[in-house]
Amino acid sequence: MSPRPPLRIAVLVSGSGSNLQAIIDAIAAGSLDARIVGVISDRPGVRALERATAAGIPAITVDYHAMADRDAFGTALLGELQGLEPQLVVLAGFMRILPAGLVESYRGRMLNVHPSLLPLYPGLHTYRRALEAGDAWHGTTVHFVTPELDAGPAIIQYRVRIRPADTEDSLRERVQRGEHHVYPLAIQWLASGRVAFRDGIVWREGRPATGPETIDEKE
Ligand code: GRF
Repeated sequence: MSPRPPLRIAVLVSGSGSNLQAIIDAIAAGSLDARIVGVISDRPGVRALERATAAGIPAITVDYHAMADRDAFGTALLGELQGLEPQLVVLAGFMRILPAGLVESYRGRMLNVHPSLLPLYPGLHTYRRALEAGDAWHGTTVHFVTPELDAGPAIIQYRVRIRPADTEDSLRERVQRGEHHVYPLAIQWLASGRVAFRDGIVWREGRPATGPETIDEKE
């Protein structure tokens, strides 16, 4: 049997692209069997686009603010994505809510990383909210994208114990370090077939998963 060809992935970004970089690095290191066929940003001139170009990956801008409205943005974005023919769409610091129709087009084939232990704290300012709530743990979740914001089935969570001296910045730094490990790992699980999305849920090794895998920060 011939080996599977690398998984074709498109990465959507809005900013610094440190998760994109982690994916690029994992592919270069041979731990992720994928090929990034294009990086698309909704904002011009961001660092993530520079990272793509530096790695020889097509860097595309679909400038949200240059579009007539959200529908026009969705149509333009879908057109670019379709041109890339990705098997998987990876949201990596993509800060815009996608039109439901576009999400449906990539049902079970679109991932996001969100900096909280979902279902806790969907949306913004997750570090501040966890600190203000006095939580013992914070972290990040890699999940399939569904039309409801930050609510799709989770594949893996990375958990960080909140320290008394933690600030939003210190917590973000530790959580993002975890993201850079678990996001390429989750993509590799999909590439290898260890994890799949079927009937609206996550399957792991051919069985319905009872919950996300978890990895805890080493203290
Ligand atoms: C990440 O922490 C991710 O959880 C959130 O946005 C941040 C983006 O960081 N969705 P980067 O652009 O990958 O550096």
